[in-house]
Amino acid sequence: MGRLVVVSNRVTLPDENRAGGLAVAVHGALRESGGLWFGWSGRIDPETSGQLRERHDGNIHYATMDLSHRDHADYYDGFANRTLWPLLHFRMDLVDYSRETHAGYRRVNALFAQKLVPLLHTDDTIWVHDYHLIPMAQQLRVHGVRCRLGFFLHVPMPSSDLLAALPDHARLFEDLSSYDLIGFQTTRDLERFQDYVRLFGRGRVIRSGVLETYGGHRLRAGAFPISIDTPMIASQAAAAISKASVRRLAASLSRRALAIGVDRLDYSKGLPERFRAFARYLERHPGQRGKLTYLQIAPVSRSGVAEYRALRGELEQLAGHINGGHADADWTPMRYVNRNYPHASLTGFYRLARVGLVTPLRDGMNLVAKEFVAAQDPEDPGVLVLSSFAGAARELHEALIVNPYDIDGVADAIEMAVTMPLAERRERWQAMMAQLQEHDIVAWRRDYLRALREG
Ligand code: G6P
Repeated sequence: MGRLVVVSNRVTLPDENRAGGLAVAVHGALRESGGLWFGWSGRIDPETSGQLRERHDGNIHYATMDLSHRDHADYYDGFANRTLWPLLHFRMDLVDYSRETHAGYRRVNALFAQKLVPLLHTDDTIWVHDYHLIPMAQQLRVHGVRCRLGFFLHVPMPSSDLLAALPDHARLFEDLSSYDLIGFQTTRDLERFQDYVRLFGRGRVIRSGVLETYGGHRLRAGAFPISIDTPMIASQAAAAISKASVRRLAASLSRRALAIGVDRLDYSKGLPERFRAFARYLERHPGQRGKLTYLQIAPVSRSGVAEYRALRGELEQLAGHINGGHADADWTPMRYVNRNYPHASLTGFYRLARVGLVTPLRDGMNLVAKEFVAAQDPEDPGVLVLSSFAGAARELHEALIVNPYDIDGVADAIEMAVTMPLAERRERWQAMMAQLQEHDIVAWRRDYLRALREG
């Protein structure tokens, strides 16, 4: 078995405290076969842009590259996050398309490919991640790279009509056709992609998961739902309960129940709708006043994009309004926090919570939903309120599944979660935990890489 080469916009270096699903999966896979992780360094520096920063850690080689201001603006803030991100999250109204940023997106993909090629071996398997890097395979093929090339889309695949509204959709499809395997989060995403191919793509679906594209190239596609390191989260959460930050949160609640949400500050997460649903719950259940505290952790994200800045303002106003209208001298209903917490503390917070609120308007998977479940105390588990528009809802059937646009429905689910008898909480939790034990992060990467290597 040759090396694994992972290409993603963000690279997690060994000493970085980013224990997200992708970082855990990628490190595990790279350690197994040895390999290279390549991507953006996270820095913008006109002096050093285009230069490689390299590091070795055991059998893993990290190579990252700084970007110039212009490349960052066109590629990351521009086409990736102002055009593709809203489009892929069904928000055509927020799509901002320009030929200039599209050209920048292609320029940076070409630059990445050019820097990556000299680092490759002929028997490498290359795994490219997410919407920032769709043209990567095509660019590598231009340089004569013959390795197996896989792509995984972490975000949703939108309906074909939406995708076809993008001026360059045919070009993107052509880019995707250069891969050997495309992985989606759910079978719904796979189906929508195949619908697109049938209706708009220059190719045909031979059968589900097998397509023929340009020049008779055979492209395989499948659903590989990403997951978490379930035993690790469970033991981390159990241990975290005695961490100072978790104990402080527990003490500050004064025996009140906790509802928790943890999301990047992103319009796809449905935060204004969630805040309104919480307010509705308070209005409709005056007897519950003072009994439930809602902690929303929302680290600021992509602040170079205007919609994210506007959302921040909106949430500040809403949180202030809710607290102003419902708080008492000794109780604040909402705690709204923009800072980030170490991953271990978050798992401890999840374990303390009676209610987990995961109500995105669209989400590829949402690993917070899975982590919330894995972090619970088996004797006294909390209840997950989960949007039907998160990929996770296709696996976690025993959550309270809600439509995040239905404010009253989410308010009802909060009420149901708060009052749910222990026996029902345990039953629901056990079913979800069994699913997460079987389909964990190791299974995800093994299934994907086996499909890619064997194909
Ligand atoms: C989503 C995307 C990832 C991205 C992450 C954080 O989960 O699918 O590719 O890395 O958001 O966003 P950021 O823009 O900070 O990388």
